[in-house]
Amino acid sequence: MTNNNMYFVANWKMYGNQSSISSINNVIKLTKDKKFRKIRIVYCPPFTLLRSFVEKTKNSKIYVGAQNCHYEIEYGPHTGFINSKMIKDSGSKFVILGHSESRREGDQDKIINKKIKSALSSNLKIIFCIGETFNEKKNNQTKFVLNKQINVGLEKIKNFKNIIVAYEPVWSIGTGIIPKINDLEKQIYDIKKIIIKFWKLKNPKIIYGGSVNPKNIAELKKISSINGFLVGGASQNSKNFIDIIKKTIN
Ligand code: PGA
Repeated sequence: MTNNNMYFVANWKMYGNQSSISSINNVIKLTKDKKFRKIRIVYCPPFTLLRSFVEKTKNSKIYVGAQNCHYEIEYGPHTGFINSKMIKDSGSKFVILGHSESRREGDQDKIINKKIKSALSSNLKIIFCIGETFNEKKNNQTKFVLNKQINVGLEKIKNFKNIIVAYEPVWSIGTGIIPKINDLEKQIYDIKKIIIKFWKLKNPKIIYGGSVNPKNIAELKKISSINGFLVGGASQNSKNFIDIIKKTIN
């Protein structure tokens, strides 16, 4: 079941250049429509486009976020990386952490935990991704894996206010396959339960990601108490992204 305050996060991954930026004109226009006044759109382009996105969206309600950061809060000799301070300095407000594609490149739960702490101290909002692989699902380890990712990833983090959890089954990312709604309900219920128990929150924000597209959104929006969607491939085409938003909020 959806509501008007839904998040729509566009993860552009390693795609896009300066000439791609004008493609979001129609999305900016959409946010001026009263009907979509309350939704929260977060664009997460590659680092090279953060500043241009911030400039482009400055008179709109669209937020900008990075797709990862270094765990070190201070400036330092880390060739090839940027830290949360630099993301903040670009005018961005969000950062995706724990994405399975970053985990694949070596980000482990403990490192992700340090990154989250660093991003929180830079006053960024975090989209914290968790999800099981196909093999883990096949071996009935989903609950165990999600538990571990949450417990280690969020260890010693007291304030949950600036964290949104994105449940993204790894086997669903970029494959066109989505979980059954019943399974999603269960996973999201379990995630909420852990967070409510440890952080004493009434309503933690959980979004779903993995092959969200204009064709399956009618099905996905049936998930009760979902707070939005993280959209990868389909967000790079603004027509598809707008379609997803319009079909969710109707
Ligand atoms: P996808 O990506 O929508 O292309 O499956 C989602 C993600 O990686 O966050």
